[in-house]
Amino acid sequence: MQSNLLLLLISITAIAISSTTSATTIGVTYSNPAPIYGSVPISPEKIAAKVVAMNIQAVRLLDSNPEMIRAFAGTNVAIFLSIPNPMVPLLASNLSFASLWVYHNVFAFYPRTKISVISVGDDVISSYSPDDPPLFLLRAMQNVQKSLENLGIFKISVSTTFSFSSIVPKAFPPSSAQFEQGNGEAIIRPILQFLERTNSSFMIKIDPYQMYRSSSSITIGFAIFETSRFNFREDLATGVRYHNLFDMMVDAVISSMAVMGHENIPVIVAETGWPSSGIDAGEIDATPYYSGQFLRSLIGHLRRGSGTPLRKGGPSEVYIFELVDKYDPEQPVTSRNWGILDHSLTDKYQLLGLKDSETIFAILLTVLEIFFYLALFMIASHRFIGWYIRRNDPPRPIRRHVRRN
Ligand SMILES: *[C@@H]1O[C@H](CO)[C@@H](O)[C@H](O)[C@H]1NC(C)=O
Ligand SMILES: *[C@@H]1O[C@H](CO)[C@@H](O)[C@H](O)[C@H]1NC(C)=O
Repeated sequence: MQSNLLLLLISITAIAISSTTSATTIGVTYSNPAPIYGSVPISPEKIAAKVVAMNIQAVRLLDSNPEMIRAFAGTNVAIFLSIPNPMVPLLASNLSFASLWVYHNVFAFYPRTKISVISVGDDVISSYSPDDPPLFLLRAMQNVQKSLENLGIFKISVSTTFSFSSIVPKAFPPSSAQFEQGNGEAIIRPILQFLERTNSSFMIKIDPYQMYRSSSSITIGFAIFETSRFNFREDLATGVRYHNLFDMMVDAVISSMAVMGHENIPVIVAETGWPSSGIDAGEIDATPYYSGQFLRSLIGHLRRGSGTPLRKGGPSEVYIFELVDKYDPEQPVTSRNWGILDHSLTDKYQLLGLKDSETIFAILLTVLEIFFYLALFMIASHRFIGWYIRRNDPPRPIRRHVRRN
């Protein structure tokens, strides 16, 4: 009986700990609609207000402009700044240029705007041929880091964003994935050393939709987190079963880092998502239904905090691509839309976990947990008192009842 109680206590504690340490921060990606597409401009203040109203914890700004950074001042939203690719060579060759960028985009707003991380470029590698790798990338990161330190800012980490499809040629089985050879040695290895030294994170864009489309062996259920007995792929080298494509891709990244001896660097998924419409009729899986399923399941999966087979807490941050659909009145109806809001900022899906209701639910759960502990404590102390009394005052032999018929 006592050991049963102990077992119960241990399992309840384990559940409580796992439910209160939801490790992954879930954010969204935002970029100003490019004017060349004829998109309707939305004011930075309107975007910031919407993000706050939706209780979104973090935003990745793809084209960080000062007005947008200012709009998030005084909010509790963590901001991920991305420096546009054309600036990266200049940041590398000219420390004054890097310092000026940091001064105008970070120092002017920090810490009123909660800037948490800076990505120096986004998939810079893919614009260069393997014979001419962008060796300046690390130097640019170092110059941004140095500029922050010179201004007395030590809490913002510096990294760069990679794209899964540009650096991991073979995702399955995840345990034997490796970074693409040329860029892996020339570019990624020294960057991993920099990230390790500065306590920064490895940032990667993961596109399960594209991976699903390009691989006939991946089922739609596996790609959109459908739970079914048959929806798994086994990594034969490790015997680990994968139940969704997202975890498989994250673990392929972790294995690739492990090959270079850096398996403990935190991973940030800089973007992931599923489009609700495609460019042509061939994209039959780009529908609001699949997109909604993918996003709801992804959020639920991350909120449960069960991690991936190779990384206990999973990615430290995940950014959903993207906040707002690109709207183009000039274009035909069919375009690839990834937004969780349409161009008029109306919700396309009911995404729990991003919203207030989920927070209230979490508080309720905590209150219930406290009550449970209290009850458990009372039961345990009651038992102890009973045991103590029996010890000091042994009960008399119980009289036998004799049944009479
Ligand atoms: C370096 O950047 C600063 C600031 O933008 C600029 O004034 C200077 O001319 C640049 N130096 C070179 C060598 O390009
Ligand atoms: C990195 O983190 C470790 C442990 O938290 C700390 O001791 C160290 O000072 C940090 N280094 C930098 C460069 O922030």
